Amino acid sequence: MTRRTAVSGAASGIGKALVQLLRAQGDDVVGIDLKDAEVCADLGTRQGRQDAVRAVLERTGGTLDAVIACAGISARVPAAVAVNFFGVTELLQGLRPALARADAPRAAFVGSIVGTRSGAPDVVDACLAGDETAALRAAAAVAAAGEGGTLYPASKAALARWLRRTSVTDEWAAAGIPLNAVGPGVVLTPMHAAHAVTEEQRRIVDRAVPMPLGGHAGPEVIARALRWLTSVENTHVTGQVLYVDGGAEAVLRGPDKI
Ligand code: NAI
Repeated sequence: MTRRTAVSGAASGIGKALVQLLRAQGDDVVGIDLKDAEVCADLGTRQGRQDAVRAVLERTGGTLDAVIACAGISARVPAAVAVNFFGVTELLQGLRPALARADAPRAAFVGSIVGTRSGAPDVVDACLAGDETAALRAAAAVAAAGEGGTLYPASKAALARWLRRTSVTDEWAAAGIPLNAVGPGVVLTPMHAAHAVTEEQRRIVDRAVPMPLGGHAGPEVIARALRWLTSVENTHVTGQVLYVDGGAEAVLRGPDKI
């Protein structure tokens, strides 16, 4: 049966690979991105998210089988919090009623191995409180203190914690909607390329994210994991970050973490 799926970040990298994979199996996909997508919207703003939700609902008649949020930015600026955290959580929440109308609804987003790092606790707390104004204020203070590099990890850490508390609520698990994430290591996309221009930058990335199994992943590797998590085959996995990272999470957190 054809599944109807909305994918954010559809114009590049992981989202683009996922759209290709889903369309190749016959799914009906509505891509969301800043440009080059069926729905063009800025998920870094509340207005943009509301516009995106409305446009997706119009195109799909109000029912969706899956929503997969891939859009994100890695810049060391407060906008990373707006796009990566609120651009994911508000999109998922806005489209949740459309999922609830489907027979086998599923949702997922792209987290990151760096979400296992701690940092910028005020930003994380404000995100989890759902207070975007406070989150952006805290993020601006972090950036002004020269700690902008902690904002991207903080946005992903907040997402992982939001996932655990949200996935098991009445609105999601009890409504029959598995909600999960994939946490990649290094993925060969335009985002990664921007951080791996020089040999020294590549060394820094590889030290931060050791991937003993297979090395850097292509975007289709992450796309396949997202496809399974949001397929009808996934009946009982929810609230999980599935690290598709060549072993980075196990190396970094060590053998005693369970
Ligand atoms: P990418 O840069 O190739 O694609 C990201 C897409 O998101 C782009 O099409 C971009 O236009 C879109 N986007 C950015 N800001 C947006 C906004 N305000 N509104 C709507 N769309 C917006 O990057 P990539 O690598 O495919 O990243 C996808 C996800 O994977 C992101 O959430 C990223 O944080 C995550 N990730 C990527 C890793 C990597 O090594 N490439 C590693 C771990 C996580």
